[in-house]
Amino acid sequence: MISRRLDLSELPVDGIRPVDGRTCVSRTAAGVFAFARRCPHADADLANGYVTDGWLRCAWHNLPFELSSGLGPCTSVPRLWTRRLTMVAPEIYELTTEGDAQP
Ligand code: FES
Repeated sequence: MISRRLDLSELPVDGIRPVDGRTCVSRTAAGVFAFARRCPHADADLANGYVTDGWLRCAWHNLPFELSSGLGPCTSVPRLWTRRLTMVAPEIYELTTEGDAQP
């Protein structure tokens, strides 16, 4: 299991922050989520996408993915890896890869 703590005090609602080359995080009204940085449709960098109402849209072909589930309306596109982050201290969130590890 890999675990890291992130200070997200400067991350606004609907903002996207790249964590590293594989993972981004976003804050929504429903919580803070990590998600795979590469789009499951055609590998675009989702750090360039945008978030509204809990949905992430890829900037390349504009497909949406629900951050709470990783699913989108197009069933032929694989699920986006997502994970709800746990707040462990004020504005400090823990990201773990235990269980549903990011591909
Ligand atoms: S690469 Fe993301 S929607 Fe096509």
